[in-house]
Amino acid sequence: MDWFSLLKFIHVTSFAAWFGTVFASLFVLRTLQPELTGPPENTALHQQLLKKFIQLETKVADAGFKTAVISGLVLAFFFYGWSVWIFVKIGLVILQVIFTMSYIIKAIQPLTYPCSTDKYRKWYKLFAISFTMFALILLVTFFLL
Ligand code: HEM
Repeated sequence: MDWFSLLKFIHVTSFAAWFGTVFASLFVLRTLQPELTGPPENTALHQQLLKKFIQLETKVADAGFKTAVISGLVLAFFFYGWSVWIFVKIGLVILQVIFTMSYIIKAIQPLTYPCSTDKYRKWYKLFAISFTMFALILLVTFFLL
């Protein structure tokens, strides 16, 4: 059994699942924008749809994130070693969690619908933060690790 390939397979697949749910959320938020920023008639139903989607998305994203981190740490422990860039990568993952969670608590959770398009843009800022951190982690992984 090639454990290194198996672990890398688990690591990359769980990252892809996590990353995929973030992209899917962006498309859902974009699709629901007219209903959640428009006249209040349809808001309740679409807010419910958004809540259900986020519940399901969070489950997959959580599992993907935890599996990516655990398999990454196991890869480093048994195969790769503890280089400076591994610690940079771990630091970036920690920062990603801090930045996204604090922005969700500060700017996303207080939103009530319908809201102005301006306020709704906070969702897109959350995605910008998340994708920037993904890009930094992937750059470190492919060019520096
Ligand atoms: C604590 C967190 C993490 C640790 C300790 C870690 C560690 C590692 C290690 C040791 C490798 C193997 C490198 C090699 O063999 O050249 C690897 C590969 C990889 N990691 Fe992570 N990783 C972590 C999180 C992440 C995250 C969050 C992502 C995505 C954003 C990610 C994306 C990748 C990818 C795409 C590869 C495959 C690179 C290749 O095939 O050359 N990792 N990681």
